[in-house]
Amino acid sequence: MKDLIGKTAVITGAASGIGRATAIRCAAEGMNVVLADIEGPLLDLAVAEILATGVRAIGVKCDVSDSAQVEALRDTALTEFGAVHLLMNNAGVAYGRPNHKTSPAQWQWVVGVNLLGVAYGVSAFVPAMIEQGEGHIVNTASEAGLTATPMLGSYHATKYAVVGLSESLSLELEATNVNVSCLCPELVDTKIFESVRNAPAALNLSVRPAPVKIIEELMGTVAMDPADVAADVIYAVKANRFWIITHQVTEARILQRNRDLEAGRRPRMPLGPTGL
Ligand SMILES: NC(=O)c1ccc[n+]([C@@H]2O[C@H](COP(=O)([O-])OP(=O)(O)OC[C@H]3O[C@@H](n4cnc5c(N)ncnc54)[C@H](O)[C@@H]3O)[C@@H](O)[C@H]2O)c1
Repeated sequence: MKDLIGKTAVITGAASGIGRATAIRCAAEGMNVVLADIEGPLLDLAVAEILATGVRAIGVKCDVSDSAQVEALRDTALTEFGAVHLLMNNAGVAYGRPNHKTSPAQWQWVVGVNLLGVAYGVSAFVPAMIEQGEGHIVNTASEAGLTATPMLGSYHATKYAVVGLSESLSLELEATNVNVSCLCPELVDTKIFESVRNAPAALNLSVRPAPVKIIEELMGTVAMDPADVAADVIYAVKANRFWIITHQVTEARILQRNRDLEAGRRPRMPLGPTGL
């Protein structure tokens, strides 16, 4: 899809961070934009900002961990704009806990949003894209889907899963004109480490774990601007690139992991400084 003018993008997790920046970038490309998010007030603000640029945009309140809500999102987008050309399965949450202290309810929350949200997006939107003979799916994984660190086991598990789902989907769709990209950023300046704000109330996750505070300090200093990630996403859609690796440091980390895997060595902490 080299020319995006007049086409329609649906982006989940579009009220904040990478999703919001990509929605703004899609609007700048002349696309109609459907912004979906669980966080109503921020969603309204993002939609208003995009409408002010003169393109057509709507906001849809949607919990991506509920397949019926993702199907309703598709139906609303099709009713409003007639077709969906770009779907970015981007909504995500992070919760830092040692693996053995992560409760079943915490697992369900992170898996529900980060993995099932992507799977439900694929199931809901891909059939219509195949039928219309054109489409592009961007799944937001993470560098955390390619290399692992301590304390974020549920996050890594879901992001590795999104990488696998995306690779499989790309192979399945090879003979169609529906293409797939897998976005794997390292640190980006967003509200990802405040994800508990959208956790189900029953989880009672008001206190953020200490190690997350260290990462938060990096936000606003070395973390990448979400607008730069959005630019990489649009480049990948136009150039039909599967991997969207936004940070240079990720390449060295992938190489280290692959070498350790080949040599049968146990995992090591990822190489190199954060934010590059
Ligand atoms: N920020 C980073 O450093 C980084 C790095 C790699 C990957 N990512 C991934 O990027 C994606 C976007 O996150 P971000 O960094 O912009 O964080 P963010 O918190 O700023 O944005 C995430 C958005 O997802 C929404 N959301 C959360 N639960 C939802 C649900 N159940 N249904 C619908 N929407 C929901 C939030 O309301 C929020 O608007 C996530 O998948 C995240 O894992 C982020």
